[in-house]
Amino acid sequence: MDLKAVFAQRLEAVLDGKVDYHEIYPLIEVPKNKDFGDLAFPCFQLAKLDKKPPAQIAEELATQLSSPILSEIHAMGPYVNVSFCSKTIGKDILTAILQAGESYGESDGGIGKTVVLDMSSPNIARPFSMGHLRSTVIGHSLSKIAAKCGYKTVKINHLGDWGTQFGKLIVAYKKWGDKEKVELHPIEELRTLYVKFHEEAEKKPELNEEARAAFKELEQGSEEYLTLWNWFRKESLKAFHEIYDLLGVNFDSYNGEAFFNDKMEKIVCLLGDRGLLEKSEGALVVPLEEGLPPCLIRKTDGATLYATRDLAAALYRKQEYNFDEMLYVVGQEQTVHFKQITGVLDKLQFKWAHSIKHIPFGLYLKDGKRMSTRKGKVVLLGEVLKEAVDLALANILEKNPDLPDSMEVAKDVGVGAVVFHDLKSDRLNSIEFSLKDMLTFEGETGPYIQYTHARAHSILRKRKEKEYRFSGLDDKESWEIIKLLNEFPAVIARSYSAYSPSLLAKYLIELSKSFNKYYGKVRIIEEDEDLLSRLSLVKAVADILAEGLQLLGIGAPKEM
Ligand code: ARG
Repeated sequence: MDLKAVFAQRLEAVLDGKVDYHEIYPLIEVPKNKDFGDLAFPCFQLAKLDKKPPAQIAEELATQLSSPILSEIHAMGPYVNVSFCSKTIGKDILTAILQAGESYGESDGGIGKTVVLDMSSPNIARPFSMGHLRSTVIGHSLSKIAAKCGYKTVKINHLGDWGTQFGKLIVAYKKWGDKEKVELHPIEELRTLYVKFHEEAEKKPELNEEARAAFKELEQGSEEYLTLWNWFRKESLKAFHEIYDLLGVNFDSYNGEAFFNDKMEKIVCLLGDRGLLEKSEGALVVPLEEGLPPCLIRKTDGATLYATRDLAAALYRKQEYNFDEMLYVVGQEQTVHFKQITGVLDKLQFKWAHSIKHIPFGLYLKDGKRMSTRKGKVVLLGEVLKEAVDLALANILEKNPDLPDSMEVAKDVGVGAVVFHDLKSDRLNSIEFSLKDMLTFEGETGPYIQYTHARAHSILRKRKEKEYRFSGLDDKESWEIIKLLNEFPAVIARSYSAYSPSLLAKYLIELSKSFNKYYGKVRIIEEDEDLLSRLSLVKAVADILAEGLQLLGIGAPKEM
């Protein structure tokens, strides 16, 4: 129920045509201090119309507004503040929520539309970094939120499985590699080789030339190199899948950069035909406006680039999925790259050029500095997740040794801690990497919400009700919860339109806090006429916390 709309209608009726509903609605505010009522209407605009002081208008309006659904109406300076009859309105709200069940919060804004999410996209033969974690968890959550809003979603893992780094790796492997070692610990070994390549290349820059040549041969189909490349790719994917399994993420496509190796002629020809290509120091580029560097399409030696492959991928995906929107969930350090991609597609006059969007996010920092994979100093995500799960398990074994499925619960809690830590911060903020913060199961954390959800279920287990029915409650704490539950659909819609799961994450913290306050103040299991209503409220909270966590890609164990 849109409480602002209810209030705006009442105001419009009283104001008798003086101001229109559509002008009133956006003016209505939620008072910062909850004691000042549920909603407030500022009278400045009316005061101008009537040439009276706003406070006087507020006084007059307050006397006219009375309605059976408003329990308190009073002027506060230039505002009219109102509170709703929480018992009646609350009954309508909660009854509707219970009736909607799992579909509560769904909307139809995306029905008939397809959104493609380019997400995760780690680089083969390199460790899965914290940046890729951000892309994975933000993309995963956005895909779930999009689906809740009615969209068809296509999740694409645009693997970094092509490019000069494979030239480097092939050179490094041939010079210093050991087959057995790679077979035993592929990612670690390949990473060591990659790091070694960079160290050596600092002393011997000609190694870079060798790597470029090796990549060129790979692009041209050298059998020896393709076999090596395939092997690197297979072993790396195996390692990535361990992480995806823990996170519960899957993809609709793993067509990465290599997939486009033989699909780049089309875009290059198209650019040529339209006269958009220019020669620059032997390379082919598309010059761009607005202070953007030209987009490099083909290098002097004929090799294509990251951008060329992204252009080919965009064309391919438009044809394959006919998306209405394509989101690139990629770190903000690639902002210029995606502006270039849009710029080139725009120059080709594709109408859909502006339905592709870069969804950037901040970096993980270590002591205020960027974490890099190149020098081998990276914190490995697989290790972080495993450590989180171990810690959660230790916690369970200490506090609740008889818990059934303790390993499953530990997985939900440990992974949930890491994922929530990421999603609760505003997307563009950088996150200071701190294992300790991530693994804290108190305060504004995933485990806190999971725990609140489990607490609600433990109450429900005490009285196994078959059917939940809500007849209305009139205490302040339950009304605060009902108002929050009522906001869930709007929070989901906003989380999608802002591409920010953090809005949902923050909402879940607020709901958990309200519920815990309620739990601390009100005796829920008390044999009186309101018992079933209180239990119904608990049930609604449990369901929405579970659904909210699910939309963030986090599990919600019923017991922990
Ligand atoms: N593999 C790239 C990296 O790790 C990210 C790819 C993002 N997606 C894309 N279509 N460019 O930096």
